[in-house]
Amino acid sequence: MAKYQKLLEPFNIGGVEIRNRFVMLPMTTEMVDNYYITDSIVDFYEERAKGGTGLLELGSAYISDCFNATPKYHTTTGAAGIWDDSFVPGLARIADACRKHGAKSAVQLQLCYEWRATDADELKSYAPSKDVPSGPFVGMPECEYTKEEIAIVVKQYGEAARRAKEAGFDIIEIHAGIGYMVMRFLSKYSNHRTDEYGGTPENRARLLTEILDEVHRVCPDMPVLVRISADDLMPGGNRIEDTLELIPIIEKHGVDAWSVQAGFHEAPRPVANQIVPEGEFIDLAKQVKTVTSKPVFPGTRINTLDLCDKVVTQGYGDAVGMARQ
Ligand SMILES: Cc1cc2nc3c(=O)[nH]c(=O)nc-3n(C[C@H](O)[C@H](O)[C@H](O)COP(=O)(O)O)c2cc1C
Repeated sequence: MAKYQKLLEPFNIGGVEIRNRFVMLPMTTEMVDNYYITDSIVDFYEERAKGGTGLLELGSAYISDCFNATPKYHTTTGAAGIWDDSFVPGLARIADACRKHGAKSAVQLQLCYEWRATDADELKSYAPSKDVPSGPFVGMPECEYTKEEIAIVVKQYGEAARRAKEAGFDIIEIHAGIGYMVMRFLSKYSNHRTDEYGGTPENRARLLTEILDEVHRVCPDMPVLVRISADDLMPGGNRIEDTLELIPIIEKHGVDAWSVQAGFHEAPRPVANQIVPEGEFIDLAKQVKTVTSKPVFPGTRINTLDLCDKVVTQGYGDAVGMARQ
C-alpha cells in the first residue's frame, strides 16, 4: 500500500462513516460567550471541516448548570454549555458547519470538578471521595457525591445527549479521561468509596456505565465514543492492566469507539505539553486494541504524517487524534 494511503480510507464509528482517519480532538477553545457558541468558534470548526478533517469533536460541553456562579476552575468557564435547551441552536451551528464540508461531528459531554443539581443550588466542588483533592487548583472537595446526587448526574448526561442529538451531532463523546469526574470514579487513586460506586472495577465503572445506559435510553440511535486515560499516571491509580479489565465491563453498556489518552491533569509528569515526546502514549492504544474490536484512536503529540501512518498501519490505532496540530 502506498504511503499515507490508509490515512485517507474511511472508517466507521457505530454506523457513522468518517471520510478519513483524522480526528480533531476536543479543545476548550474558550471562544464562547457565557457558555454560548459564538461566530468565531463556528468559523474555527468550519475552517477545519473545509480542510478535510474526518471527525471534529466539540469540547467540552458542560452538562451541569454554571450560570451566574463564580467557578474556581477555568475549564468550567471556557466550556460550551449543554445543560439547557437554549444552547441547542448555537451547538447546531457547529454540527451544520461540519456537515456542510463533509466532516462528521461529535460533542464531548463534560463534568469537571464542580457540579450542582439545579440553578437554585450553589456550584460546589465534588469528588467520588472526600479524602482526595477535587482536581488541580480546586483543592479538597466540598462534597462527596451521594447516591441520590449520582442519579441526578446520570439524568443530566441523558438530557445533554438529547440536546446533542437535537443539535445534529453525529456522535456523542463521554469524557472519561484526564482526571475529570468520570475518570475520578474509574481511578483507584481518586475513588475510595465503599458503596457500589467504589472498590471493584465494576463498581468504579458504575457511574460511566449508568451514564451510557441513560444516553442509549434517551438516544437509542446515537453512536457513543468514550475518551479514557488508559494509564492515569497517578500514585496508586489505574495502570494499563486495570484499563484492560475495565474496557470489557464498560463496553457491555454500548461503546462504539475509544479515544485513548494518558494521565490526570495533576499527574506528577507532563501529560500533553511539548516536553512529552512525540507519540509517547500510542502504545497504550495498541494495548487497548487487544481487548476490543471497536475502533480505537490514540491522541497526544501525534504531529507528523509519518507518525500518523505508523499508527494506522502498525496496529496502534484505527485513526489518529490530534488537537493542536
Ligand atoms: C486549548 C486546549 C484545550 C483543551 N480542552 C480539552 C477538552 O475540553 N477536552 C479534552 O478532552 N481535551 C482537551 N484538550 C486536550 C486535547 O484534546 C489533547 O488531548 C491534547 O492537546 C494533546 O493532543 P495534541 O498533542 O494533539 O495537542 C485541550 C487541549 C488544548 C490545547
